[in-house]
Amino acid sequence: MPFEEVKKIWMNGELVDFADAKIHVLTHAIHYGSGLFEGIRCYNTKNQGPAIFRLVEHMRRLFDSCKIYRMPIPFSAAEITQACLDTVAANDFKECYLRPVVYRGFYSLGVDPSKCPVDVVVGAWNWGKYLGPEALELGVDVRVSSWNRMAPNTFPALAKATGNYMNSILIRQEAAIDGYSEGIALDVNGYVSEGSGENVFVVRDNRIFTPPLGASILAGITRSAVIRIARDMGFECIEGLIPREMLYIADELFFSGTAAEVTPVRSVDRIPVGNGRRGPITERIQKEFFAYINGEIPDRYGWFTPVYAERAAGARKPALAAPFPLIEQYRFAPITR
Ligand SMILES: Cc1ncc(COP(=O)(O)O)c(C=O)c1O
Repeated sequence: MPFEEVKKIWMNGELVDFADAKIHVLTHAIHYGSGLFEGIRCYNTKNQGPAIFRLVEHMRRLFDSCKIYRMPIPFSAAEITQACLDTVAANDFKECYLRPVVYRGFYSLGVDPSKCPVDVVVGAWNWGKYLGPEALELGVDVRVSSWNRMAPNTFPALAKATGNYMNSILIRQEAAIDGYSEGIALDVNGYVSEGSGENVFVVRDNRIFTPPLGASILAGITRSAVIRIARDMGFECIEGLIPREMLYIADELFFSGTAAEVTPVRSVDRIPVGNGRRGPITERIQKEFFAYINGEIPDRYGWFTPVYAERAAGARKPALAAPFPLIEQYRFAPITR
């Protein structure tokens, strides 16, 4: 689907018209992938109206990613939080996908980016079910990728960097060309890592397993939500190394991610997972997750930031500023052009 025009994009402190949200072709990030970003969903919840899911955690990860890359963000976490709320409101979205990006801008093209400005944008658009609406019930067919996830000490997997997605592109394209919905990559030691844009969960004998942070995964915010929900439902949920063949003998398998939400996997390398359809534990977790994000059950973990209530209250006031004491210290002096 081609990109559907939206009204406004937030760029370096102001909301600009979609048509004016432009950058120079010699921008550092285009040439070297020097950007850090987030993918966030705003849901039209039944009890709180449009509300952004786990905005605090996404802001924290964005600032963590920038810290890893020594990227001084010229805005505070509270300001970028406000930018997210304002972008949803400026586009009159009830639900949408939000994309804050912090990147090295236009100045010079040496690999060392330290003299380049750090620019910040927040885009928003409608994004339906990432792996298709029927996938949520039927599950998807995946392959184990011939590409590995990056080795530790090459690219930091915990940083959600634009450049990392070149690896994701290889995994996803290969899967699509071969007729699969998605690929699961192994880490350099041959253990299960993650999908091109999702974390992986394996169910076997009523226990739930997911790869640890040391298996070159992105520390998914949906992953942590699923772990919390599953544990509170009474399931044992283990973060541990998963050998490839566990994918073939799993009772159930599912993906988690902001885009994919909770999506069952029904086959791996054409071997059916369990009985080849969504398993009962996956279904229970999925239903709980969807009840939560649709606001059909109370926001018991405080994972939502309701867009209009926060804006009416003034989002830079203590309610939103409070969760950020750790993050604010990552703020460096702004770089002037
Ligand atoms: C490589 C990768 N792994 C995992 C995830 C899931 O992370 P989250 O749940 O924070 O969206 C994503 C999605 O952003 C991703 O791109």
